[in-house]
Amino acid sequence: MAGLSGTRPRVLLLVTGGIAAYKSCYLARLLVQAGFSVRCAMTEAGARFVSPMTFEVLTGAPVATDLWGEGATEALDHIQYARWADIAVVAPATANTMAKAAAGLADNMVSTLLLAFPGPVVMAPAMNDNMWRHPATRAAQRVLSERGVEFVGPGEGFLACGTTDEGRMAEPEQILAAVRHLAGSLPPRPADAEELPERAAITGATSWAGCRVVVTAGPTCEPIDPVRFVANRSTGAMGYALAAAAAHAGASVTLITGPVALPPPRGLERLVSVETGRQMADAVEAALSGGADWLIMCAAVADFTPAEFAPGKLKKDVLGDTWMLRMVRNPDILGEVVPAHRASGVKVVGFALETEDVVARAMGKLRAKGLDFIVANNPAASGSGFGNVAHELILLGPGGELWRSGSRAKEALAPLLLQRLAQAAAGVGP
Ligand code: C5P
Repeated sequence: MAGLSGTRPRVLLLVTGGIAAYKSCYLARLLVQAGFSVRCAMTEAGARFVSPMTFEVLTGAPVATDLWGEGATEALDHIQYARWADIAVVAPATANTMAKAAAGLADNMVSTLLLAFPGPVVMAPAMNDNMWRHPATRAAQRVLSERGVEFVGPGEGFLACGTTDEGRMAEPEQILAAVRHLAGSLPPRPADAEELPERAAITGATSWAGCRVVVTAGPTCEPIDPVRFVANRSTGAMGYALAAAAAHAGASVTLITGPVALPPPRGLERLVSVETGRQMADAVEAALSGGADWLIMCAAVADFTPAEFAPGKLKKDVLGDTWMLRMVRNPDILGEVVPAHRASGVKVVGFALETEDVVARAMGKLRAKGLDFIVANNPAASGSGFGNVAHELILLGPGGELWRSGSRAKEALAPLLLQRLAQAAAGVGP
């Protein structure tokens, strides 16, 4: 990726209305994984095949769909992405969009961005074989090729219209290869090129890029003796998904984890493994002392810990038929450790696991612990649960309910929750 002196090449992915749009989700992911900074715009028809939300999650940025500035990309100047990008990729490129581009029409977000974009363009056509062979499409392709547009595909294969012929969109890997090739020969970006903060939500949300985020996850284990402990059913799945999503969005993430059976998420700044609530309190204290912009307390910290630790295994014949285990309160990390750090401006998110009066009880905790946000969840509700299953969250702020997620996989929930948190912190969004 030469030519851009250290900064990540910026790819504008333009998705038009073909069934092959589903393959562009994978293309978006490949581009991000290959180190490109990716933004996406879609035609209305494209957005009927795949939800803009999918690309929003994959690219971590708003998807431009509406030329008239309504809806999610309200604050997005309609050609901002054209000024920002180094390379534009149209995938799938329909016959309609090819014809418009060849004629210089600008009647939707994609055709307008294409007309406003002066840099190199890759097109991956996808259409019915007769449309592809039509003289109008051939003429459009000729015109576009002469102007320097690079075509990838279409290939032969099974088409959505039921025939097997030429018209199938090239595979995402082939398109990625073409983009990589182009990126290698890009001239240096002009000094006055449009700057969008990396992954910033142009809707006004703050960016996670460069944020110092501390996430706690999992249960804590409170030892009774060398072989026994008191713990809870938290698996760490939600906290790990949040840490992974924050790292993916460019945050510098410290994950403080109780004992779980999950592999560490990729891209963490620091992983701190603890066992007990006391150790977790000390780790949070140390992380906040080092400076943090967000603390996301997702861990299920045990409320009580055995009053004494027995250095040798307790014998059941000594304990008798009924064993009274004396427990004492663990430090309340949010209530007791965090307040001393509030002056630093750290934004604090708690989690409330409730099985009754979920919203009211969570609001009570938000107020009692002086939190910025609380995420209420009920693992017993239908569509929710412990571990790597679908789950439903309710995000609350001091003014009440901000967002209900609906039941989704935890990996899918995590980036959405981060996005809502950033928007709420920036004072935008619902
Ligand atoms: O009051 P409750 O334990 O239900 O509050 C849950 C929230 O408080 C979670 O964010 C959890 O991580 C945090 N917590 C804490 N210290 C504890 C127990 C829970 O910070 N000892």
